[in-house]
Amino acid sequence: MPTSSHATEPYPSELLTRLRTCRHLLVLTGAGVSQESGIPTFRDALNGLWGRFDPAQLATPEAFDADPPLVWGWYAWRRSQVLLCEPNPAHRAIAVLADRVPRLTLVTQNVDGLHQRAGSPAVLELHGSLHRPYCRACGHPHIPSDPQCEVSLEGAPLPPPRCERCRGPVRPGVVWFGEALPADVWDAAETAANTCDLVLVVGTSALVYPAAELPLTALTRGAAVVQINPDRTDLDDFATFRLGGTAAQVLPELVRQGWPDAGFG
Ligand code: APR
Repeated sequence: MPTSSHATEPYPSELLTRLRTCRHLLVLTGAGVSQESGIPTFRDALNGLWGRFDPAQLATPEAFDADPPLVWGWYAWRRSQVLLCEPNPAHRAIAVLADRVPRLTLVTQNVDGLHQRAGSPAVLELHGSLHRPYCRACGHPHIPSDPQCEVSLEGAPLPPPRCERCRGPVRPGVVWFGEALPADVWDAAETAANTCDLVLVVGTSALVYPAAELPLTALTRGAAVVQINPDRTDLDDFATFRLGGTAAQVLPELVRQGWPDAGFG
């Protein structure tokens, strides 16, 4: 597998040709694409901003039902932290790619909304969003208020708002452990894995299924898969190319080398 380990050396010419000539590009991102925006990833979050909480303990329906203020407070705090962050050059490079290839499907495991804020026109959010809470009882969407007026410090307990329709408790709009992914979103992601000819896998440990299945599905059909991650993951054993570096280093460089005449700041 051709690899490049430094953001400034030429990337494999075969990769650049595939990028320029691809008909349908699938981009799958994980927490690593937002790391350079200041949002800790999951596997290093335990010593990051969310160090005092273990996501696996709080990101479940049971945890919310047992203590709504604790779980709502944690997510309200996470949302307030995310809104203080900005999209980074990796998010912006992915938004530019949508204008350079005939068709791009962006699938993210992230719930931070930074792809949309960077200008990506369509984002398949497999694990939901911090910005789309809804009623735990009736499913009615809840428009989140300004986080500064509701945020709890460091995720301290905060009673969830009440649904305007049924007065049930509003829950975070993320997919919790043990919950099904939104069926329409997963179907669209799976269709992309079955029709794309090139996949960029950016900043994911590829540990959580079914998201981790998408690049493998594409590979079995003959699509090329590019692993973009400073660290190794299980996907390295299967990927066609590996660009060892951070998302904010590699993705802008990939766009620059892919279209040297088009200019990309
Ligand atoms: N650029 C690119 N990759 C990075 C960067 C960076 N700057 N920093 C870290 N990484 C890599 C890490 O090496 C790791 O492989 O990003 C990956 C982040 O992995 P996780 O923390 O496991 O995040 P993710 O893969 O998105 O987790 C998937 O698991 O906890 C659940 O629902 C949660 O969506 C999440 C899912």
